Amino acid sequence: MSSSASKSAPRARDSWSGQTGFLLAAIGSAIGLGNIWRFPGVSYSNGGGAFLVPYLVALIFVGIPMLWLDYAVGHKFRGSPPWALRKIIGGGEFIGWFQTFVCFVIMVYYGAVLAWGVQYTIYSVNEAWGADPTTFFLESFLEKVPGDTFSWAPAWAVMIPLALVWVLVLFVIGRGLSKGVEAANKVFLPLLVILFLALVVRAIFLPGAIEGLNAFFTPNWGALADPNVWLAAFAQIFYSLSVGFGIMLTYASYLQRKSNLTGTALVAGFANSSFEILAGIGVFSAIGFMAHQGGVSVSEVEGLTGPILSFVTFPKIISMMPGGPLFGVLFFSSLVLAGVTSLLSLLQVVSGGLQDKFGWSPARSALVLGVPATAISLVLFGTRSGLNNLDIVDNFINSVGVVSSAILFAVLCAVAGPRLGVLRAHLNSVSSVKVPKLWEPLVGIVIPVVLFVMMAMSIVKVLKDGYEGYPSSYVLIFGWGSVAVAVIASLIFTLIPWKHRPVDTHATVAQILADDADDTASIEGGAK
Ligand code: PFF
Repeated sequence: MSSSASKSAPRARDSWSGQTGFLLAAIGSAIGLGNIWRFPGVSYSNGGGAFLVPYLVALIFVGIPMLWLDYAVGHKFRGSPPWALRKIIGGGEFIGWFQTFVCFVIMVYYGAVLAWGVQYTIYSVNEAWGADPTTFFLESFLEKVPGDTFSWAPAWAVMIPLALVWVLVLFVIGRGLSKGVEAANKVFLPLLVILFLALVVRAIFLPGAIEGLNAFFTPNWGALADPNVWLAAFAQIFYSLSVGFGIMLTYASYLQRKSNLTGTALVAGFANSSFEILAGIGVFSAIGFMAHQGGVSVSEVEGLTGPILSFVTFPKIISMMPGGPLFGVLFFSSLVLAGVTSLLSLLQVVSGGLQDKFGWSPARSALVLGVPATAISLVLFGTRSGLNNLDIVDNFINSVGVVSSAILFAVLCAVAGPRLGVLRAHLNSVSSVKVPKLWEPLVGIVIPVVLFVMMAMSIVKVLKDGYEGYPSSYVLIFGWGSVAVAVIASLIFTLIPWKHRPVDTHATVAQILADDADDTASIEGGAK
């Protein structure tokens, strides 16, 4: 194994054309569906304006420190999660693949929501949902079967745009990092900001917008005494920033050696949260308008989060509004743009992992990952039980898969191989903002404990009450099953021997020689 490793010609890794390309892609990854359909509702139901306190605490003490950890590991070890974590300790590769397969599971359903968005952008033009958007969404569009039935029958209105979404994103990923992901983000992210700003400006001038904004911002200080509100803030930051499960680590691995890591993380973190608050303003202005039109108070409006907010409540609002079709096109195309840049980041983790381990080109990796991903995505989420499958998989892979991978990752960095001190020194050697010593206990102890409590609480709840009334066999197959698939696939990929090592195009000769010594040890199975 070692001789073939040293014989095979290493393939140079792609890299960002500069720091701006990386920053745009990192922000594009963070800003996703979670910002638009999750944050406004979570914030409203967890203390309104007062939620900003735990939210900012979570950003500063959990989000940014984890982002720094992702950046440090990706940048120092110049590889996607399996390679980078292997260089911390041999067995770390398994955790790296686990992160990679968690991303795989997320991307197969995330693509489906984009397909809904694409279709609804078109529906907006003539408000195709008619007088009853709920029935239209569930019955005409998704052709949804009851929660206890699995269906192989296609829901064509979903399946066709879903296939198109896959063709598009695989094409982008197949072009490689700088020509694909970076180029796409440079177009999509500014476009998203422009369209979304137009939407928010329109929304705040609607009659009733003020009541919506009051509901969103009025603080309920009592909520701060509720530990669940704090956990909701941690969960939101974690989900929204996409930290701890390989995405930011992968992106940082393509940075040039001399890159300002910590400063960039601060910009990305605050940009994501600013977009989130902007989304809250837009969404609640629109909800205030809806309440005003219906002569009710905002607290009586239902369907304030998730798919129902976007695909039922918003169509209702659009139909009530003069110029509704334009507003609808702005809303749904924003959703698609926000989602597509996040989907690309999920795909890059998997594609980067394959490229690093097998030495494949981006195009070949896109093909190898794209065929099973598209097939699974179409069968599970383009069919008539798609919404049920999505609901269960999303809940489990996030509350168990993502969170456990972040815990394992942080603990691994704290206890194995080069420890947090080395990573902190690495961050400080290249960055403008210096990382304080406090970062080490925060990342090594406090954050894993908080995440563990969060995960334990959701697991206990599911074991006690089941999930949303779905039959337990479904929860077992799709919920626990999706986590189990990620574990088994990770084991298999860990056991495949390394025949190749990723090579950094920006290294000096001296760095290459030093890396070579490291990498040979790593390929031969010795933990570095
Ligand atoms: N951060 C992105 C979002 O808020 O939608 C991307 C993402 C994060 C997707 C976590 C999926 C996920 F589970």
